[in-house]
Amino acid sequence: MRFIKLAFTFSVLLYVNTAFAQQKTIAAKVEALLNKMTLDEKVGQLNQYNGDWEATGPVTKDVGNKLDAVKQGKVGSVLNIMGTEHTRKFQQAAMQSRLKIPLLFGQDVIHGYSITFPIPLAEAASWDMPAMERSARVAATEAAAAGINWTFAPMVDIARDPRWGRVMEGAGEDPYLGSLIAGARVKGFQGKGLGNTDAVMACVKHFAAYGAAIGGRDYNSVDMSKRTLWQTYLPPFKAALDAGAATFMNAFNDLNGTPATGSSYLQRDILKGQWGFKGFVVSDWNSIGEMIPHGFVKDNYEAAEVAIKAGSDMDMESRAYINNLAKLVKDGRVPVTLVNDAVRRILTKKFEMGLFDDPYKFINPEREKATMNKPENIEAARDMGRKSIVLLKNEKQLLPLSKELKTIALIGPLSRERWYLKGAWSTDVDPNENVVTIEEGIHNQAPGAKILYAEGCKIKDSVATDFKEAVETAKKADVVIMAVGEDIFMTGEARSKANIHIPGVQEDLIKAVVATGKPVVVLLMAGRPMVFNWTAEHAPAIVYTWWLGSQMGNSVADVLFGNYNPAGKLPMTFPRSEGQIPIYYNFLNTGRPAQGDNDTFYRSSYIDAPNTPQYAFGYGLSYTTFSYTNISISKTAIKKTESLTVSFDLKNTGNTAGEDVAQLYIRDMVAQPLRPVKELKDFKKVMLAPGETKRITFTINKEKLQFYNDNLQLITQPGEFKLMIGAASNQIKLEKTFQLTN
Ligand code: NOJ
Repeated sequence: MRFIKLAFTFSVLLYVNTAFAQQKTIAAKVEALLNKMTLDEKVGQLNQYNGDWEATGPVTKDVGNKLDAVKQGKVGSVLNIMGTEHTRKFQQAAMQSRLKIPLLFGQDVIHGYSITFPIPLAEAASWDMPAMERSARVAATEAAAAGINWTFAPMVDIARDPRWGRVMEGAGEDPYLGSLIAGARVKGFQGKGLGNTDAVMACVKHFAAYGAAIGGRDYNSVDMSKRTLWQTYLPPFKAALDAGAATFMNAFNDLNGTPATGSSYLQRDILKGQWGFKGFVVSDWNSIGEMIPHGFVKDNYEAAEVAIKAGSDMDMESRAYINNLAKLVKDGRVPVTLVNDAVRRILTKKFEMGLFDDPYKFINPEREKATMNKPENIEAARDMGRKSIVLLKNEKQLLPLSKELKTIALIGPLSRERWYLKGAWSTDVDPNENVVTIEEGIHNQAPGAKILYAEGCKIKDSVATDFKEAVETAKKADVVIMAVGEDIFMTGEARSKANIHIPGVQEDLIKAVVATGKPVVVLLMAGRPMVFNWTAEHAPAIVYTWWLGSQMGNSVADVLFGNYNPAGKLPMTFPRSEGQIPIYYNFLNTGRPAQGDNDTFYRSSYIDAPNTPQYAFGYGLSYTTFSYTNISISKTAIKKTESLTVSFDLKNTGNTAGEDVAQLYIRDMVAQPLRPVKELKDFKKVMLAPGETKRITFTINKEKLQFYNDNLQLITQPGEFKLMIGAASNQIKLEKTFQLTN
């Protein structure tokens, strides 16, 4: 035993020493190269251009031939170039530059590359870290085989406003859940570490607070206290950093009057200072140049000065650095040491990835061909898809459906849709035929059933159409499945909406079909929480499917026919109306918390709407039921250096095996400053056979009790804490209190 321990300690030491030695050699190599570089070549490393054929932002057409610029050493990275053929062309150009510094190839590999996985918000509903890590791993493996070595993901912006189109890219509203997911995704993308041919650099974005854009309008201002920034918006970034994220991207928004891209507070003080980040920061697309329309600087010369001083290392598509930075140094406005620091950070990553040893390391057509669309990865996408589905309603256990059904009516504009199922920010490298539609998924599971189809209406139809065909079709069937929701252009960047109801007249179509009295299952597809009050009240079964990617039809059918028992839980609150937004579960109590509808002066709610959401954070049903009983707590008082445990029995009280996500919320009853009425602090996703009981234990320690005071110090305050355990933020089943004594 002692020998094993010694051997273990020795190998850990060896590993640490080797890693340290490698870092030291890389540092020496970087310095040697830096010493050879002219100022212009240094600035070139800080410049990133969009590739030639695809754009993910407003294109600037003034740059001339980009390959020539690469040959002249004026480019450190390109984005939006996919595939070994194209990346090779650019890397060959880089190898013709004086110092032959390899290029980085960046791409928004957000939820899959060739195989599309569920949109990130959907995946977040799985509360399943290994599954999300695997999803990112598959995406990285495919992308890295196609010449890409850097993904602009994960997006870790906390979002409490479903009007914002980019909620689909993140993990929802909660800092605790969001932090775990951020870490899992970084690990998935970076795999066993940079230097491996299946690892891409992660880029954590958008630093910071982009998700709090006022009114949910993309790119908009953010105004928030530093305490809220630290308490709610920064934790997922820190978690991503702790997981080893190689790069960060700054953001379009201003934060309290300073554009994030020009914010030394964010990039130098917090990220590179307090957090000790050693990687590099890339700007968002033209976000350096956009400090001009923000009204923060008067021209690109000033923009470049502000951005480099603030800690933005690489300029994506502004041309602010390439056109001004050398002059700024010569004019004495920017010390060359700042430029050196940025170049050093970028070169270090290029060395760490082994690009100097082999610039074509990621550019291998055989590997590209062999890696895409592997059956086991397609299966992983299908599994991730069904894990992401949230069952919202299931009256009289309408679901799961029998595979022996004779006639199924499939109604709605998304029934036969293929491309939209991939959701926004899919790379579209696979032909659309690779996507399984809802109709195909149903047919695969119930091949004996006759599927009657009616479109009913188009997604955007705004005037009541004649639903006769849909109604007649429904009447002929044993069961009706409706596929309705948004289209692919309704979420994603620059796709905020003021009206987040199910678009067009689709809810009228649901009404007409439900009125037939047939059993109706509504599948809701969207990249955000939608509003659908009538459906919530009257449709017998509702399945929130989001966008699940290439395997969507199969994943949905797995749930519909009971091959898989749904266990997804909402990562974002679903409002009853847009007027309730922003809406989130971990709010502060007012001095007059809502008591009841008749207490006029105690009504801190609206006079025309309750405060409660349609569906709460953490909510989601299963085909089985669970009970929470026998809570016990190990101590009723602890000091802040101590910990306690709280345990309970989770039982599957139904007839089907299933998983529940048991959630632990904490409330600090009296605190200055105030603490939320509930904060998620832990959870466990547990699989139980019918009748099976498992005893679940959560540990509570200082980390779970501390919070930021107004001086941004993490503190705990003595007093009473309430522990709440349940199946959703609004389904608390067990409670206990304890005292924190000091
Ligand atoms: C702008 C988006 O905000 C960012 O998330 C993305 O990575 C870049 N464009 C590059 O496409």
